[in-house]
Amino acid sequence: MDLFKLGGKKALVVGGGLGIGRATARLLSGAGASVAVLDMDPARAETVSAELRASGGIACAVSEDVSLAEGAEAAVSKAAAGLGGLDILVNIVGRNSVTEGVADVKPEQFELLLSRNLRHHLYTSGAFARRQRAEKIGGAVVMVASIAGILSAPGAGPYGATKAALISLTKTMAVEWAPLGIRVNSVAPGITWTDRNQWGQDIQDRAKRTIPMGRIGHQDEIARAALFLASDMASYITGQILVADGGMTIIAAYDGA
Ligand SMILES: NC(=O)c1ccc[n+]([C@@H]2O[C@H](COP(=O)([O-])OP(=O)(O)OC[C@H]3O[C@@H](n4cnc5c(N)ncnc54)[C@H](O)[C@@H]3O)[C@@H](O)[C@H]2O)c1
Repeated sequence: MDLFKLGGKKALVVGGGLGIGRATARLLSGAGASVAVLDMDPARAETVSAELRASGGIACAVSEDVSLAEGAEAAVSKAAAGLGGLDILVNIVGRNSVTEGVADVKPEQFELLLSRNLRHHLYTSGAFARRQRAEKIGGAVVMVASIAGILSAPGAGPYGATKAALISLTKTMAVEWAPLGIRVNSVAPGITWTDRNQWGQDIQDRAKRTIPMGRIGHQDEIARAALFLASDMASYITGQILVADGGMTIIAAYDGA
């Protein structure tokens, strides 16, 4: 873990109370970073930060709803106050929900998915960049997209569209903020076991057929990709989408015909 050189670095993990966020908070802390665990559920944020402190780390809990611009602003300033500075922002928040096909999507479904998956990335990342610019220090932003933003997403059109927009934002923020010394990257997970996502046998069987590695990923494997991008191990990498999907997106093969 010394390779990641996170000792003395301060990281805000947005959505750190559960799933991929909790796994990322644990890894960042294990690699030496001080971690502000943010979750809209205060009990989750407190439980994870207490766990990190019990393991010898420095951690604090922050509870805000980052789908609101003022919540995102408060999240960044409370994390910086709690840790005595900020170098890394990892934003994990996002969630799919089943929708109709695009022709029949209800406006309220679309608005919900926009709010859950897109707005907060602009709000939290923007608040982070303004703070780093004012303090004249660089940093690293890592966000969690999805292969749904790279592939077609039948039955999940709004979710895929928000993740595709996030991929676009990743590249734009990377270019706009490179002069500030801020790197911006995203991880795009494939189908993943998380605290919340317990996949049924049908999905596991399908994974055997459609994923070259023959299995569903685990939240710790997504967290490792986020750790890499957040650390100086990725010091020359910005604007990239690191796909962690067991090869699912490369299965369509050229057969030489
Ligand atoms: N599980 C998968 O198969 C998969 C695949 C691709 C992408 N992803 C992406 O991975 C990310 C994490 O997924 P997960 O299943 O680990 O998440 P999760 O839903 O289990 O955990 C997210 C945490 O964020 C908190 N949260 C939600 N909305 C918030 C808000 N507005 N403000 C503050 N906190 C909020 C929740 O309380 C929760 O504790 C998401 O962006 C998801 O789209 C997941």
